Amino acid sequence: MPEGKQVQAMFAGIAGKYDLLNHLLSGGIDFYWWLRMARASGAAQGRRMLDVAAGTGDSSIALAKRGAEVVSTDFTHAMLRLGPSKFRQKKLESLIWASSDADAQALPFKNASFDGITICYGIRNVEARPRAYAEFLRVMKPGGQVTILEFSTPVVPGFRGLYTWYSLKVLPRIGALISGDKSAYSYLPESIRTFPDQKRLAEELEAAGFKEVHWTNLTGGIVALHVGRKP
Ligand SMILES: C[S@@+](CC[C@H](N)C(=O)[O-])C[C@H]1O[C@@H](n2cnc3c(N)ncnc32)[C@H](O)[C@@H]1O
Repeated sequence: MPEGKQVQAMFAGIAGKYDLLNHLLSGGIDFYWWLRMARASGAAQGRRMLDVAAGTGDSSIALAKRGAEVVSTDFTHAMLRLGPSKFRQKKLESLIWASSDADAQALPFKNASFDGITICYGIRNVEARPRAYAEFLRVMKPGGQVTILEFSTPVVPGFRGLYTWYSLKVLPRIGALISGDKSAYSYLPESIRTFPDQKRLAEELEAAGFKEVHWTNLTGGIVALHVGRKP
């Protein structure tokens, strides 16, 4: 696992190409995954959500489209600064506030100040996940829900082989070609491979103190949606 500063430098380096590569490498299914995440998160009018590791803001947009007020945070300014023009384009700027310098492991927010937390494709990059979970519990109101959208372990055997081939052979090449950064898109499949599978991530959340933890596989388990509640 690279250190926080290396993760920041990596995302700062690919920020300008991040959206294009997301849509291209996922074949556009990324929008559907954010939609499912937003639905599962309980985001709705009158609710205040914190989107951690929000990057260029697409995950925050999905939440605001449901009427929620969203604080969109990240610790890589070069990623976060690309969000506001998209929020304006979607006419969601009154609902989303971009707040930089927010490390998931030391969130600059008051105790019990959010109804829910989301983190999409971010927790895999966090150095000390238990510290982030403790922060999620601290800044959420009792009864609040954390929703984690993350790459996971495909559950359909034949499909798993095809996906492994794609993520190890095809994805790093396209990523390197378009972003000009070979290491960032080799890091992606490697970080997915070493990340806990669905069950282990659920156990981690339970050990951290979340209740009612469960998950839903999307697209055969390429990604999974985990949710847990603050008691
Ligand atoms: C793959 S992007 C995901 C962006 C967005 N959530 C999405 O769905 O497209 C991962 C983001 O996590 C951020 N990140 C990684 N570690 C972090 C940490 N410890 N605290 C805050 N942000 C972090 C990176 O800066 C990067 O913008």
